[in-house]
Parts: sequence; structure tokens; C-alpha cells
Amino acid sequence: MIYSSITGTGGYLPERIMDNAELEQMVDTSDEWIKSRTGVVKRHIAAEDEMTCDLAEHAARMAMEAASVSADDVDLIIVATTTPDLVFPSTACLLQERLGVRGSAAFDIQAVCTGFIYALSVADKFIKTGAANKALVVGAETLSRIIDWTDRDTCVLFGDGAGAVILEASEQPGIVSTFLHADGQHKDLLKVPVGISTNYAAIQEGSAYMQMQGNEVFKVAVNTLGRIVDETLAANNLEKKDIDWLVPHQANTRIISATAKKLDMPLDKVIVTIDQHGNTSAASVPLALDVAVRDGRIQRGDKLLLEAFGGGFTWGSALIDY
Ligand code: ACO
Repeated sequence: MIYSSITGTGGYLPERIMDNAELEQMVDTSDEWIKSRTGVVKRHIAAEDEMTCDLAEHAARMAMEAASVSADDVDLIIVATTTPDLVFPSTACLLQERLGVRGSAAFDIQAVCTGFIYALSVADKFIKTGAANKALVVGAETLSRIIDWTDRDTCVLFGDGAGAVILEASEQPGIVSTFLHADGQHKDLLKVPVGISTNYAAIQEGSAYMQMQGNEVFKVAVNTLGRIVDETLAANNLEKKDIDWLVPHQANTRIISATAKKLDMPLDKVIVTIDQHGNTSAASVPLALDVAVRDGRIQRGDKLLLEAFGGGFTWGSALIDY
């Protein structure tokens, strides 16, 4: 049996920092409200000439270096993003060219905040079937481009960033299981109501913005993440105490705490980075993973539960023997 194993991680945040005090000058909000309701202290904003692929490249190079993998070795690139550089070619193809990778498969996945879990699951299946040996899996976003900076309901929450992993074929797990789900019935609770075939003029005018019914999203997210924790534990005959680290999507500290409670997990066993960068959608899980691997909290042999929830709605988990 072939498994896939994470052999390197990387993460990147743009230089420009926007703290809560700066947002206080832009909309009717306060540092105290943002911190207590969301956990966000600051977010990073990509420069005008900095694209999603630029962020992805930084994170990808770090992951490749950590795994001692060269461009010649990579035979699959998947980029999870909701904010691609172009309609086409895919950001994965742009990244492939930047990195000097030749001939690998390369494509994007769009599952909003669950994008990285979707991408990891697909890459795992490529490796398990022998279709790939060394995969680069990236979550990268320039969400600041689709934020209405006059809408306090959304602008306090989000930020830009990228995270990446190298996934390699291995005789040992590795990725033990992944579960992916979606329910399009909730499509209107969180969306950008504009696209190539819908109201394209709004894109040309620069007014293609995210809309969110935060309260409703919050309730569904807490319930759904609880269910996916149960599903993952049951499918793997595990008990809550068997999980060493929870690496959740960084959407809101209150959602993260609710999921940790469901696992009877103390918060010091949960990787929380939302204070540093807000919700970076597809980038948030690999960013959090990279931080905890590099600061030594996550060690080889630890059992990790990665989970995410996002627009669509989409949600998913990955159980990993790191
Ligand atoms: N600053 C100050 N006050 C605010 C702000 C703000 N930025 N935003 C809302 N308020 C006010 C509201 O007007 C309301 O005032 P009122 O009581 O006088 O009516 C009060 O604060 C409470 O508002 P709620 O919307 O009930 O606040 P809530 O506690 O639900 O927090 C939040 C809002 C943070 C958006 C929360 O609902 C949330 O995190 N939702 C989930 C978002 C999420 O997880 N998205 C995940 C996926 S993201 C993706 O896929 C791209």
C-alpha cells in the first residue's frame, strides 16, 4: 500500500500589516470588538503589484526547501484559491512556470476556505493510486481584493497569505483519512455575487465584493465542524484523546474554541494563528501547520486533525500521522 506523507511545509504573509487601530479609522468598529468577537489582532495585505501566485511562490519554495525537493522532482501541483491571478491560465500553471517545474499536472481547486483540505485530499489520492510521487499543495489568497473596505461586517475578518506542503509517496501513513463535503443549499449565506458569466461589469468596475450573513455562517460552521470531528474519529476507530493537535481553519476563535470543546481538547493543543493574519481562507490551515511545525510544537509521530469550513458551504477534515 502506498501512502502520502507531508515532508515539508512553508508559509508566507505579505509585508504590509493592517492592525485593528487602522480599521478603526476606516469603519465604525473597535479593537476591543474585533478581538473579543473574532480573535483577529492584525491582517496582512498584498501590495498592489503582488498577486496570489507571488504569495504562493514564497510558501512553495519554503516547503520545497524543507522537504529537500527540487523543481525536477515535483510531478503534481495543486493550488487552492478563490482569488486566482487570472481567469486562466490557472494559478497552479503560473506557479509551475515560476518554480521551473516542467511537465507535471497543475490545476486549481476552488472550495473557498476548505480549499486546502480539498487539495490535500485530491493530492493524497493521486499519490495513493501511483499517479504522482511528489506533490506540491498550496493554499493562497489575496482576499483583500474582494473585500468591501466600507463593510464592517466583513472587512475586519479577512487577510492575505499563502501556505504550502510537499506530499510524498511513503510506505507509512501519512495521511490516514480525508473527508470532503458540500451543501450548495447554503450558497447565499457567503458569496461574491459576481463572476465571469454573472454581472461581469462589477469586476470591471472593481466592485466584486464578498457578502456574508455572519451569524448564520457561524451557527452552521459550529454544528458542521462538530459533525466532521465525530465522522473522522468514528471512521478511524479513534477516541478524542488520541488526537495530539487540532489544526483548524482560522475563521474565528469562537468557532475554533467550540470545535476544541467538542474534542475535549485544551486550547494549548489547538494551533491558533488567527490573531496574526485573520481569515486567509484556503491559506489558513497550511499557514497554521507551518507555524507549529517550525516552532517545534508539532513533532514527527504526532496525530493531527486538520479541519475547515467555508463558502459553498464546503467542509472537510484530514487526519494525519505526522
Ligand atoms: N465592529 C463593531 N460592531 C460590529 C461589527 C464590527 N466590525 N460587526 C457587527 N457589529 C455589531 C452588529 O451591528 C451588532 O450590533 P447590535 O447588537 O447593535 O445589532 C453586534 O455587533 C453583534 O453582531 P453579530 O453579527 O451578532 O456579531 P457576531 O457575534 O455574530 O459576530 C462575526 C460576527 C464575527 C462575523 C461572526 O458571526 C462570525 O465569525 N461568523 C462566521 C464567519 C466565518 O466563519 N466565515 C467562515 C467561512 S469564511 C469563507 O469561507 C470565505
